[in-house]
Amino acid sequence: MPREDYLSRMNEVVKKRILRTLLFSAVALAIGVGVAWVQVGMKSARTVQKGASTEAPIAGLNIGGPFTLTDHEGTEVTEKTYDGQYKLIYFGFTYCPAICPTELQKMSRVMNALEDNYPEAAQNIQPLFVTIDPERDTVPVMQEYVSLFHPRLIGLTGTVPQINIVKKNYRIYASKVETEEQNDYTMDHSSFIYLMGPDNTLLGMYRTSDTPDGMYQDIVKLMKLS
Ligand code: NI
Repeated sequence: MPREDYLSRMNEVVKKRILRTLLFSAVALAIGVGVAWVQVGMKSARTVQKGASTEAPIAGLNIGGPFTLTDHEGTEVTEKTYDGQYKLIYFGFTYCPAICPTELQKMSRVMNALEDNYPEAAQNIQPLFVTIDPERDTVPVMQEYVSLFHPRLIGLTGTVPQINIVKKNYRIYASKVETEEQNDYTMDHSSFIYLMGPDNTLLGMYRTSDTPDGMYQDIVKLMKLS
């Protein structure tokens, strides 16, 4: 949906939160991206830099693994729940003022384009949003948040240990940052959208700088749709 629509649907509390943490977010992104690159390693970072659409084998990266989480309707799920499906997976948090909503909108646009052009194949792609802030992102919070994006988007949360496992397996950097107000915080975190294959191996990864169209074209190629 257009950014204006999205913003108009956010309540006053969220708007205030945006203003308050916008600066934090910019700093957080810079740190998060930097740390994530280090974590993924120099070799793979070079691959990412060239773009996910090259023939370079990012598929060789050991990203992913078993998990047990709870979806936004309160149902327990594991990696096996989505076996046989392609998955677009993004890690973030619902209080994120800018980057997470932008990336989830991008994912929604890509899903819409795939549904328009390859309706059958698109049904075999499951978009997932995994929170890195499980303490605030409870099931009801996730349910409300995912409704702002693609109708098939599933939000996943869990206990802190469950989220720690999935973060580690997907090499997600995330860290709490205290804000000026007491009892409030934001999150530094890396920002990648992963494309996982039906067998749960990594096929592609997309950065904030990837456009919806570039991402769409790459997925069409990786899924051998054209
Ligand atoms: Ni974010």
